[in-house]
Amino acid sequence: MEFTKLFQPININGKLEVKNRIVLPALGLDYTRDYTFTEKFAAFYRARAHGGVGLMTVGPIAVDEVGGAPSMPQLFDDTNVEPLRQFIDEMHSDTDVKVGTQLFHMGRYSYAHMWGKEPIAPSPIASKLTKHTPREMTYEDIQKTQQDFADAAARSAEAGFDYIEIIACTGYLLSEFLSPLTNHRTDEYGGSLENRMRFGVETVAKVRKAVGDDIAVGVRIAGNDFMDGGNTNTENAEFAAAAQKAGVDAVNVTGGWHETTIPQLTTDVPPGVYTYLARGVKDRVEVPVFASNRLGNPYLAERTLRSGAADMICWARPIIADPELPNKVKEGRLDEIVTCIACNQGCFDAVFSQKPVHCVLNPLAGREGKYDVGRTAAAKKVMVAGGGPAGMEFAVTAAQRGHDVTLYEKDNRLGGQINLACTPPGKAEFHNLVDSLEKRMAISGVAIELGRCVTAETVASEKPDVLVVASGARELEVKVPGIDKPHVVSAWDLLAERVADVGENVVVVGGSATGCESAHFVAHMGTVDPETFTFLMYHAAEDTDFAKKLLHQSRRNITIIDMLPRLADNVGKTSRWSLMKGLRLSDVELRPNTKLLEITDDAVLVETEDGNKSIPADTVIMAVGAVALDELTSEVAGKGIEVIAIGDAKEPRKIADAIFEGFEEAVNL
Ligand SMILES: Cc1cc2nc3c(=O)[nH]c(=O)nc-3n(C[C@H](O)[C@H](O)[C@H](O)COP(=O)(O)O)c2cc1C
Repeated sequence: MEFTKLFQPININGKLEVKNRIVLPALGLDYTRDYTFTEKFAAFYRARAHGGVGLMTVGPIAVDEVGGAPSMPQLFDDTNVEPLRQFIDEMHSDTDVKVGTQLFHMGRYSYAHMWGKEPIAPSPIASKLTKHTPREMTYEDIQKTQQDFADAAARSAEAGFDYIEIIACTGYLLSEFLSPLTNHRTDEYGGSLENRMRFGVETVAKVRKAVGDDIAVGVRIAGNDFMDGGNTNTENAEFAAAAQKAGVDAVNVTGGWHETTIPQLTTDVPPGVYTYLARGVKDRVEVPVFASNRLGNPYLAERTLRSGAADMICWARPIIADPELPNKVKEGRLDEIVTCIACNQGCFDAVFSQKPVHCVLNPLAGREGKYDVGRTAAAKKVMVAGGGPAGMEFAVTAAQRGHDVTLYEKDNRLGGQINLACTPPGKAEFHNLVDSLEKRMAISGVAIELGRCVTAETVASEKPDVLVVASGARELEVKVPGIDKPHVVSAWDLLAERVADVGENVVVVGGSATGCESAHFVAHMGTVDPETFTFLMYHAAEDTDFAKKLLHQSRRNITIIDMLPRLADNVGKTSRWSLMKGLRLSDVELRPNTKLLEITDDAVLVETEDGNKSIPADTVIMAVGAVALDELTSEVAGKGIEVIAIGDAKEPRKIADAIFEGFEEAVNL
């Protein structure tokens, strides 16, 4: 398939010509602590502009102190106008990107009480994110906030932005006015949909007036709030139509609110699932519509455009992972793509912990210009022992720098623990990480030896200058009575699908990510897969309620026990709730504060706060952690070879640590 549509220029409502259909939407990056447009922001966006994106959003940008945050640049005064102008001028002269911004007000989601300002919202309804109750906006607040949007828009125009987007989605201020859940007002800004739309419509009109008719203005809406009792695709499409009347030139359609319990961004969200929302809006407006969320696969993006569901597509995390994604697609360099796996660990989890955005897969994200990945003057012969993420990342980077690299993997496939991580339901995309690194290793000239375990003898005969020990980890073993019984299996064996017999009563020992995901995996055995469900629905073969039951009915009694009070504690904030929801839907019993004492033939004996108990178990899955597997380091010590241990072989940690360590050691080689 050729990417004909993706690279077709588009004219946005007669006001803006964009070279292709790719939008980098707004991303809270947390690259400042005092509202400054820092060099770190500039470096991040510069790399993306040079990477070929058509319309690049620099933002969110705070329109005032109550609705914004010091972690984002502001345009509530003139401080950032000149630095932004210089940056935008540079982008316009060095590239053909169009630069947009997003004017941002969090309303009830604002943390402003933490910096001494009272958050404001249409109605005083506590924020589930901040646990704080905002003050109800007065008429004067409404006028002032709308003026703040207009003033920030005028400054955006002064700074030279080509496109100005107003955020009206995700549960932030404009969507709070729109929703009956958060707008209980009895004045002309509350009640009927027309009244609830008034704040947004007036804001659009004031922004339009402030910037004149020549600059393209857009609005970002939730296609569906996905909130019980909130706005659906009907009301939100109605708002899109009203916003168009008030003067917007484009509508960017994303998914639901931060509070929704329908996953929006996690890896289990099927690629392209929310495109139907953009299509619904497209039926209601004449201006270009952007589709968003999980559209990073270039073929899917092209098909989305060809289907007519949207005029442009948003790539957010895919462009964090690979700034050059648009150029690579355009130039047919698909094998070079660093493929986003929607793990959220470096990006969404980071912002929700008030930390700067980085990326598990792209060690340079948020560190642009900090590392010299140029060619080495002194090429070395390097042996990498282990083909997990750390070893593969090291190999790619070292080979790109001109070193002579051979990677050895004892299994007959690459990936290490990633091959286990992609087994649980909804995590298949984690394998893209392996595929992507494998292709990039091939391109950069890494020699790969599968099915070869590196020993001290191999090292002695190969005589490398450097040995990189990336042999990963092994499962931790615990000593409890009964641990050697045949129905006790390891979580890694389960996830590697080496366990043929899983009984009716399953107890998972260990409630960290691996334990919870193992339970989720077992719960899904024998349920219907999405394709079967779709088939049944498509042909109306089964009653909908019965078919829905088939999605969750595990037919097994599954219990997770852990000594700690909180299960899945090592899963990122933005993915944990979705995993826990999956366990709940499958009726998995969660038993925190529970210690394994003994495994018998048909039960586990545990110690709980309420005394000792017996839980029936004909399969016991051990998921109690990992220890470094680095024997090779001591075996070759003192033999005159430089040895570098990376990733889990150094200390079991997260994929991000493994990849970053592999990269950094290769840069320092
Ligand atoms: C770290 C991070 C910060 C984000 N901040 C914003 C924001 O400030 N405004 C906004 O409209 N969307 C924001 N989003 C949502 C993205 O613009 C985008 O809609 C979402 O990531 C889905 O697209 P993707 O699957 O291509 O990543 C953010 C997403 C991430 C990952």
